[in-house]
Amino acid sequence: MSAPNKAYDPVEVAALAPAAVDRMRADALAAIAAAADLDELKAARLAHAGDRAPITLANAEIGALPPAARAEAGKRVGTARSAIRAALASRQEELAAERDSRVLVEETVDVTLPWDRTPAGARHPVSSIADRLVDVFVGMGYEVAEGPEVEAEWYNFDALNFPPDHPAREMQDTFFVAGPKPAERSGVVLRTHTSPVQIRAMLTRPLPLYVVSPGKCYRSDALDATHSPVFHQIECLAVDEGLTMADLRGAISAFVEAMFGEGLRTRLRPDFFPFTEPSADVSMECHVCRGASTRPGGAPCRVCRSQGWIEIAGCGMVNPRVLVACGIDPDRYSGFAFGLGIERSLMIRHGVTDIRDTLEGDVRFSRAFGVEA
Ligand code: DAH
Repeated sequence: MSAPNKAYDPVEVAALAPAAVDRMRADALAAIAAAADLDELKAARLAHAGDRAPITLANAEIGALPPAARAEAGKRVGTARSAIRAALASRQEELAAERDSRVLVEETVDVTLPWDRTPAGARHPVSSIADRLVDVFVGMGYEVAEGPEVEAEWYNFDALNFPPDHPAREMQDTFFVAGPKPAERSGVVLRTHTSPVQIRAMLTRPLPLYVVSPGKCYRSDALDATHSPVFHQIECLAVDEGLTMADLRGAISAFVEAMFGEGLRTRLRPDFFPFTEPSADVSMECHVCRGASTRPGGAPCRVCRSQGWIEIAGCGMVNPRVLVACGIDPDRYSGFAFGLGIERSLMIRHGVTDIRDTLEGDVRFSRAFGVEA
């Protein structure tokens, strides 16, 4: 029943009888009307208008009719086929429109929903304070110097004039990474302060030398409200001809005013560090009571424990022995240095009472400092 019959074939041409064509047309229209979506309509199109649909096959039989019957049968089949085509086209249009409006509803995006539920982070205040201090010194012509956190004992202690039996070298104070090998004189430690960067700077940079070095330090302290085995220091070193303690005082004042506020006085009192001579501890006028030691109204100032002063750093003139260890002529050059803990300064400045707040990574702590540049 493929190609048009050449000879009259009463069996095949039965499909062209009016009742048969009407039935094909009715079946097709019913299937088209019943198609509930575009997939079903596609199946109906294939079954009732496709190459192997009854009406298509009937159409192919027209040529088998006696010539006199062909025109009428052709008209009948043609009318049925165009009715089917028209029904398909209009159902297609209906179903496509239905699909489009369903998609519009189902895939609606509510552009008014909040999109920023993930809270923004914040810079850690230790980083922002370190940057601020570094900026102050860079503005005065200092360079930033860095050194390794895993440091040779020689840089951390020996070159800084710590004697071999100094208590800081004990295991309970210092994390030893490796002891000295028999042929070596220096073990490896996690640096206990940023002062070894002074040595590295003096050994590698040309004189005169003005450097500032922020960084992490380690001590084998148990973690509690005021101690942490990991903390940050910032170190300042100047080596030049003719430097005196007056220059040291000036640098310290610049630092204190940048960190705690304009016009705060500083005080040096004798102290001891192996790498400076003379050495001093640096106190600043309490930034809360401004040295009065009491709050307005007479209550004791808790920030400075009614001392009026707060100790914040160690400092001194670079010990000539340290200059010599770095190959610098102490008769020609002198130097000053100071160093301090960044967390401690942060705690003083902001009334943080537990150093663990600076370590736990809770963004709520950092966010409170979010406005810090
Ligand atoms: N390195 C010392 C410490 O960790 C602090 C210090 C004191 C640094 C005096 C200095 C200095 O540069 O001159 O306790």
